[in-house]
Amino acid sequence: MGDSNRVSNKLTVFASGQGSLLEAIIDSGIKIELVLCDRPCRAISIAKQNGIKTELYERKDFTKSFNREAYSQEVLKIISEYKIDLIAMAGFMTILSADFFKNYQGVILNSHPALLPAFKGHDAVAQALRSGKKTTGCTIHKATAEVDSGEILAQAEVPILPGDTEATLHERIKQKERVLYPALLKKLLSNNI
Ligand code: GRF
Repeated sequence: MGDSNRVSNKLTVFASGQGSLLEAIIDSGIKIELVLCDRPCRAISIAKQNGIKTELYERKDFTKSFNREAYSQEVLKIISEYKIDLIAMAGFMTILSADFFKNYQGVILNSHPALLPAFKGHDAVAQALRSGKKTTGCTIHKATAEVDSGEILAQAEVPILPGDTEATLHERIKQKERVLYPALLKKLLSNNI
């Protein structure tokens, strides 16, 4: 990761869903400054139960006229108040503006449920199932304005088994993500100056 291998320790996790990756990060003992969510979800409760500060900046508009710029500006404002150094996206379902990424260049990570560059996008698991391949996996990468395209930092392979549904395959992938993501975050945070 070059210079951005050295990150300070104010970590935020962005989540929108079940929060099982968040849970794994918490269970690994990593200190999280803030959990930010774009909708009411289990991840918020997990954070609260663990005494982590939360911000629910709710996205109300899921149409084409969603004001991505304004939403992202507000998220920027929130995390700058917490003096965040590292952002770990863990199932965060809103694509943020290019300007957002400019402000936190090199210190935004994401976990994607496929072996990038294969199967980019929100339906990565379904794409893998449809592909007829025997393996897929997960990728931890730097997140950039271009979705699922930043530098790859870690990957793990997962078999696609006969009879798999999207749910069973996704759960098998998430089992890997729950190990890989905390391990990588630990490594980055221990390189702290
Ligand atoms: C993970 O598979 C992640 O790769 C994807 O969303 C899922 C999050 O799972 N972007 P959870 O909400 O943490 O259980």
